[in-house]
Amino acid sequence: MAAVSNAGGLGILGGTIYTPDVLREQIQKIRENTDKPFGVNFLARSPFIDQVLEVIKEEKVKMVTYGVGNPEKIIRACKPHGIKCIPVIPQVRLAVQAEKDGADAIIISGMEAGGHVGKLTSMILIPQTVDRVKVPVVAAGGIADGRGMAAAFLLGAEGIQMGTRFICVEECPVPLSTKQFILKAQAEDTIVTGNITGMPVRCLRNRMSETFAKMEMEKKDPLEMAMFGSGKMYKAFVEGDPEEGSVMAGQIVGLLEDIPTCQELIERTMREAEEVLAKTTLRFKHQ
Ligand SMILES: Cc1cc2nc3c(=O)[nH]c(=O)nc-3n(C[C@H](O)[C@H](O)[C@H](O)COP(=O)(O)O)c2cc1C
Repeated sequence: MAAVSNAGGLGILGGTIYTPDVLREQIQKIRENTDKPFGVNFLARSPFIDQVLEVIKEEKVKMVTYGVGNPEKIIRACKPHGIKCIPVIPQVRLAVQAEKDGADAIIISGMEAGGHVGKLTSMILIPQTVDRVKVPVVAAGGIADGRGMAAAFLLGAEGIQMGTRFICVEECPVPLSTKQFILKAQAEDTIVTGNITGMPVRCLRNRMSETFAKMEMEKKDPLEMAMFGSGKMYKAFVEGDPEEGSVMAGQIVGLLEDIPTCQELIERTMREAEEVLAKTTLRFKHQ
């Protein structure tokens, strides 16, 4: 995470999985490894939300991103301390509401993304959100190189968020077996499960996700399904079992071919975006 910030990106700590005490330790660890800005992400409806917000204030985190849940509490807790509040949102009308609630920017997240997804694509979400809100829009979902970055900018976004791409970087502690499984996957190899739970998740097709999808089709008992799903991300991303674990990844997965360092990835992405934007401008000039 610190490596992303050191390389010129804005590293975001995925704080949802931590108890407040561990979150504090993780933030302090990042500080030992970078003096650059970084953010913390969490679930707005976390059962620990009050303690999480306390940790964020006490540790003087500069910005937070958050999904799912009532944003009022977060904005009320963070804004007086100058902490930028940036919700992750899958719908235009929710983006409009978030701006009214006081969000400093919006991360608009297309359904191509890995992890929790909505129903709309980045291609249609970005321009419609940009037209409806005044705060900066950050595009997430389906971006893994400079072409994607340039496209998002052409649609009006002012920043991008990449998730799937950053699993396959050298500094990411995910085991090589899972990284290699991701590198082998193609655009068609993802599946969305969890529709019936109201929290759909995009992950790669494997034994685990196919079994889960079958259980959904057979309308198995939700408790049985929750038990089956429990600990499966840990299995993939910590234990390195990409067949029995939940390998959350987006449809852009087919574009990934290597495991660069964060520095290489960010520099390459910026260079590609500049080149593709310059070429596009030239093409229009010559018409
Ligand atoms: C393995 C994985 C874990 C993720 N965990 C979170 C999370 O905890 N909180 C969150 O807001 N988004 C999470 N996301 C979504 C990313 O932050 C990002 O918005 C998304 O991956 C962008 O789309 P992309 O996968 O096409 O790059 C996760 C994505 C992946 C692939």
